[in-house]
Amino acid sequence: MTGFDVLDFFEPCGRISCLRDELSVTSDKKKVDASTLKENEDAALPDDRTTTIDVLDLPHISLKPPKNVLVAILRILKLEQQCNFGPGVENLTPSQFLSNRDLTIEDISDILPWLTIHSPRIASLDSFCQIGSTFTDSRDIVRYLTTILSSPLNWLQDPDVEDIYKAASSRLSERCGRTSIPDFVRKIVLKNLYERTGCESIQLKEPSLTSDNLGLKTWGSSFILSQRLINDDQRYLKEPIMELGAGTGLIGIVVAHLGYHVTLSDLPEILPNLKENIKLNHASAQADCHELDWTRPDPFIKENPNSLKGYNTLIFSDPVYSTNQPRWVADISEKFLRKSTEAHILLQVPIRSGFQKERDKLWALMEDKGFQLVESHQQDGYDDFGEQKFVFRVYKWYSSYL
Ligand SMILES: C[S@@+](CC[C@H](N)C(=O)[O-])C[C@H]1O[C@@H](n2cnc3c(N)ncnc32)[C@H](O)[C@@H]1O
Repeated sequence: MTGFDVLDFFEPCGRISCLRDELSVTSDKKKVDASTLKENEDAALPDDRTTTIDVLDLPHISLKPPKNVLVAILRILKLEQQCNFGPGVENLTPSQFLSNRDLTIEDISDILPWLTIHSPRIASLDSFCQIGSTFTDSRDIVRYLTTILSSPLNWLQDPDVEDIYKAASSRLSERCGRTSIPDFVRKIVLKNLYERTGCESIQLKEPSLTSDNLGLKTWGSSFILSQRLINDDQRYLKEPIMELGAGTGLIGIVVAHLGYHVTLSDLPEILPNLKENIKLNHASAQADCHELDWTRPDPFIKENPNSLKGYNTLIFSDPVYSTNQPRWVADISEKFLRKSTEAHILLQVPIRSGFQKERDKLWALMEDKGFQLVESHQQDGYDDFGEQKFVFRVYKWYSSYL
């Protein structure tokens, strides 16, 4: 086993169903006024949506929809914000719902005359806002998007065609599994986060994922460990605290919001996004962020001479997915765990079936370094790729090493 390839988890889009060739067309063309739409706007979109919009109700490409119709359709098909590791539930007014998709009520009012004739089932504000949310099979949308992408769109101007292709490609990649999703902000909701910190949720920016930058995605381990820390921070968090391989920063940001000072660290290519997430969550006062490569810690030590006194809490979440990492994790723990009876290492590791050897190696190396296992729990959790078992371990120095 040489390395961890995130593309192992790629989820292809699968079967594609047929689209209807004909659309019912009504000649009842009306001018629709945006102010009328605003008056009709309910306080929130109805939860019990009774109208089922089918992909067949979308403007068929053979009808040569104008640019503004295609743009509005492609924006409304934008997926809801990811919440934890699935789509979130939105309870928004139509204006908020549209604004999250870069649309306004005026945009919809402009296209209603065309829709009334060519796509009558989506020719109202309410039904337009329901596009996408009532489709039972997302593969039909994929088919619709590929129909747009395979059309020359020759009734539109060149720059407009490019815009439409770009938007259709983005909607398509959003539906092709986590490895293809473009940049997005993931919302993390944890039990008692608000009660403990006053924050409703944590927002984590995740750039598009490449196989060698795994720290640009939030992993299930960090979610499960963050929840443990919220539930029992006094037991597990003893300053000074450092998180190693912090990735998108969930754990460190939660620790900062719980009122502790924490150092978040990772490789240089992960740092810009990590810093952005610290700012995005207003955690800069409690959290600092540094480059720390476990294989060459000297630049970090030079920049932070106090680090040589050691930390009372070292946190690792999902740090082992290649042959050399167990050794690096054990070595860096030896370097930075304070020689104190209260100092400890928190390790949250997913139980991926292909990485048993690496986990066993890590546990063996931790013993060799003089770390005693003082707590271990197996837990069920999940990630973008489905259900996952995790192990949480706490290590301390054996007293003979102090
Ligand atoms: C699977 S990701 C987990 C990220 C984050 N802890 C989480 O659970 O969401 C592994 C993290 O370890 C970091 N990492 C891997 N090798 C490293 C090294 N040699 N030095 C520092 N960080 C490293 C990666 O950059 C990445 O952020």
